Amino acid sequence: MSKAFYITTPIYYVNDKPHIGHAYTTIACDVLARFKRLDGFDVKFLTGTDEHGQKVAKAAADKGIEAIALCDQNSKNFRDLAATLGISNDDFIRTTEERHVKSCQALWKRLEDNGHIYLDKYAGWYAVRDEAYYDEAELTKGPNGERLAPTGAPVEWVEEESYFFNLSKWQDKLLALYDANPNFIGPKSRFNEVYSFVKGGLRDISISRTTFSWGIPVPGNDKHVMYVWIDALTNYITALGYPNEKDEYATFWPEAHHMVGKDIIRFHCVYWPAFLMAADLPPPKRVYAHGWWTVEGQKMSKSLGNAIDPNHMVAEYGLDQIRYFLLREVPFGNDGDFSEAAIAGRINGELANELGNLAQRFLSFIGKNLDGVLPAAGDLTGEDRELLSACYGLVDQCRGAMDRQAFHEVLESIWNVVRAANGYVDKQAPWTLKKTDPERMKTVLYVLAETVRHIAILMQPFTPHAMDKLLDQLAVPTDKRMFTDLGEANALQGGLVLPTPQGVFPRYDVKAGKGTA
Ligand code: MSP
Repeated sequence: MSKAFYITTPIYYVNDKPHIGHAYTTIACDVLARFKRLDGFDVKFLTGTDEHGQKVAKAAADKGIEAIALCDQNSKNFRDLAATLGISNDDFIRTTEERHVKSCQALWKRLEDNGHIYLDKYAGWYAVRDEAYYDEAELTKGPNGERLAPTGAPVEWVEEESYFFNLSKWQDKLLALYDANPNFIGPKSRFNEVYSFVKGGLRDISISRTTFSWGIPVPGNDKHVMYVWIDALTNYITALGYPNEKDEYATFWPEAHHMVGKDIIRFHCVYWPAFLMAADLPPPKRVYAHGWWTVEGQKMSKSLGNAIDPNHMVAEYGLDQIRYFLLREVPFGNDGDFSEAAIAGRINGELANELGNLAQRFLSFIGKNLDGVLPAAGDLTGEDRELLSACYGLVDQCRGAMDRQAFHEVLESIWNVVRAANGYVDKQAPWTLKKTDPERMKTVLYVLAETVRHIAILMQPFTPHAMDKLLDQLAVPTDKRMFTDLGEANALQGGLVLPTPQGVFPRYDVKAGKGTA
């Protein structure tokens, strides 16, 4: 039986248009999902939209349309974005779906039956933009003396009857969860941040609202709608069929991995495991918090109008190029800056020159000099073996790094082989061997083909479209592109007829703003 793997993106608020930040999380999850599938896992990959709450209700009211109409429109933008980015999600959840309403109400009932919910009065600060409650002590002052949330969001005073979840009772259990599972939160710096937050003490949290109605009704008291975060977090189990705890839930929930931005770890690493434990359900296996992107050194904001539309990026730079850039440019977990110069540098320096040329040079050489027939290898030299054994060892290195969501390390290990292969071509100089030692030339070409086969199979999660083309050019059958096909046992056979080679990574010309092959 294959091993299960469950990966989720945060569900995106439908008040906003998709931008590079959303694309980033979704692409990272897609790379992970594809990697695990190629590694033989049974993968479930979920993304979707977060449609309830005051922020969405307000955005709809500002436009003078029904909330559901806004949700329908904007949820579609995120669904289309997934298609534009070549995302391989297995499901797309909307929190306005009936399956989700049932699941949230079932979870609420469990919390209530287990005695963890009580009715009281809430009086305090709320930031609609963050959909979060803040203590007085957390607030800062804005330029006109107005109170602001630590995120800079405006806050308003809220006083209303509210249901509360007894979060304060979960401090010890949460600390015990973190102690027993040091990999529960990644990277380590975020683990430490969450740990000290919980160590500092927890207060009960308000989990319902009465002053607006765009939400899931609280079972038994429909004056109240659920707080949007309890509703949103529950999406991860709704999609597995909860409240049915068999079938997909039983297979995938024990292997749940949530990918989130650093701004929403408190919800995922404190509230969510506490809700689950209180409902006698196990917490997810791991939550990974990535950093934030700025654009040409500036924070993205509506007022600056500098949010990058992922559709524009795909049209301008190419899809595989963006996927590669976002995961290569910064160590995953750190913040990053998007600039034209940086992406052009990665496209031209690494994809076009180092990998694209490596493949093109020997493939067109075979095309021109050997009628496109892959030669068989003769006796291998120490240098041949060294390069091949670097290829054979690669998958284990990639696996290790991928399990820590260190995408940049995965790419770095693959790139060590790309660079070694370029060094090998320069040193072996097959174009010279053509005259001096044609038999040796064949061996060198064969070793290069095997090397590029390994690189291409392992690069598939990152640049799937270009690697499909490259593997086609190496005549690797589509059912021989899994990680089990790596290694010597499945090596290419001499005598294979290769199709006419074509470049897979065009150069990007910064001035003209166009790729040139
Ligand atoms: N709806 C909540 C999540 C609920 S999950 C149960 C939400 N939505 S969001 O649309 O505001 O943000 C979704 C994700 O996008 C978050 O993980 C956030 O960190 C990420 N990003 C938003 N702007 C970003 C950047 N500028 N850079 C990187 N990621 C960013 O929060």
